[in-house]
Amino acid sequence: MTSENALAVRQQLVGDLHRPVYHFLPPSNWMNDPNGVIQWRGRYHLFYQYNPFGPMWGNIHWGHAVSDNLIHWTDLPLALAPTPGGPDEGGCFSGCAVDNGLPTIFYTGVHGERYEIQTQCMATSTDDLLTWQKYEGNSVLRNVPAESGQTRDFRDPYVWKEDDAWYMVIGSRIKDIGGAVFLYRSHNLTDWEYLHPLLTSDSKSHGALWECPNFFKLGDEWVLIISSHTGTSTASVIYFVGTYDNHRFTPVSEGVLDYGQLYAPLTCIDDQNRRLMYGWLREARSENEQRHAGWSGVQAIPRVLSLDSPRRLNMAPVPELETIRGQRYHHGPMVLTQPISLEVTGLALDITAEFEPQADGLCGIALACSPDGQEQTEILYEAAHQRLVVRKVALELHDVQVIHTRDIPHRLTDGESLKLRILLDASVVEIIANNRTSLTSRIYPSRADNNIVRLLGTKARLHALDIWKMTSIWQ
Ligand code: FRU
Repeated sequence: MTSENALAVRQQLVGDLHRPVYHFLPPSNWMNDPNGVIQWRGRYHLFYQYNPFGPMWGNIHWGHAVSDNLIHWTDLPLALAPTPGGPDEGGCFSGCAVDNGLPTIFYTGVHGERYEIQTQCMATSTDDLLTWQKYEGNSVLRNVPAESGQTRDFRDPYVWKEDDAWYMVIGSRIKDIGGAVFLYRSHNLTDWEYLHPLLTSDSKSHGALWECPNFFKLGDEWVLIISSHTGTSTASVIYFVGTYDNHRFTPVSEGVLDYGQLYAPLTCIDDQNRRLMYGWLREARSENEQRHAGWSGVQAIPRVLSLDSPRRLNMAPVPELETIRGQRYHHGPMVLTQPISLEVTGLALDITAEFEPQADGLCGIALACSPDGQEQTEILYEAAHQRLVVRKVALELHDVQVIHTRDIPHRLTDGESLKLRILLDASVVEIIANNRTSLTSRIYPSRADNNIVRLLGTKARLHALDIWKMTSIWQ
């Protein structure tokens, strides 16, 4: 599909109330994980798990888009397709990109009736990432380490360079133990030697299968991010921070990267030395509704990662997002005693808020509120319990009011104010509290006029609230 055709397909879906306008998603059909993210000759390339044939998972190819600023994207032709008879004939699963003089991608080729044969493949490009030539010796890595106990789950290579060699981690599991990340080394990118597990888990606390590992240096520490396939007791995407000596990783702290719909994040470094993180925002609606919509899956606005002194992962949407802010609405400082409907309305907003919660008070914002009060999404901080709560009130099938609540820990230190960053974009709600607690949610308002914004608060002070109307990135 040419970029012009892709735009025409996008046009057809413009009236869809639930389709984001400033987040990246493909022209139509299914998308999941970000893949192969890299900045090449100044331009940001995003590849992604894509089904060109429909809005459900299957027939996995690599889709491709490019951007100069991480916000406005141009669709490019498919980058990878399964090769009949090849190790990827069942699909081109997730992977990464590195610069080896030539841009080089690593991905998991799958085949077998139930995608059970998973091996690592390589491809290179000589035309600035537009077309890809698969390495004729594929697969470059076939065998799962014996200590896995013969698992078939062996995927999502992530590759980086150290002084002496290239290294790769792969997401997997160890039978009867739990999720695992295996570490490999190579001097030429085609012959890989197994070293040892970089980290293994106890399936009860961290899940039985780890996908999409990322391992990188951030400041003076090393960070491992994994996506836990079945989820853990609290969330699906977990990070570990620690030391890395003699190719052994020793975590000293860990945390939840996102408590909601963000999955399979993938990071890269750019020419400003920023560690950028992309992530798939999963749908929270039925397969039928996705089929009806004709599309599924959204990419988070890329985030810049950093660490704070207690070794927590901090993150913020890239500042480039501010360039598409439209009209601004400002409130505060003020004391909050009851809900206030604001003048601004809309389903595409960028919000920053700073509150001073009081011991037994509540404060926050309600979005996508209907005029009759039947639907709304409340983002609330309960100071007494130090919890962030997202309460979605929606009319579902046959107009029955249903309430979904997600309630997560968010501890403020003494004297610390509550800082919220909220990106609302149709069905996407990205929430980051104090740059360190992330909860990404999906909402499906039933009407376009469910677009009222309310300030919520009892016993709280609002320092400042700024809301910008956001514009479409596709015009
Ligand atoms: C994560 C994942 C990966 C796999 C890909 C297949 O969402 O399951 O482990 O490579 O999706 O689309």
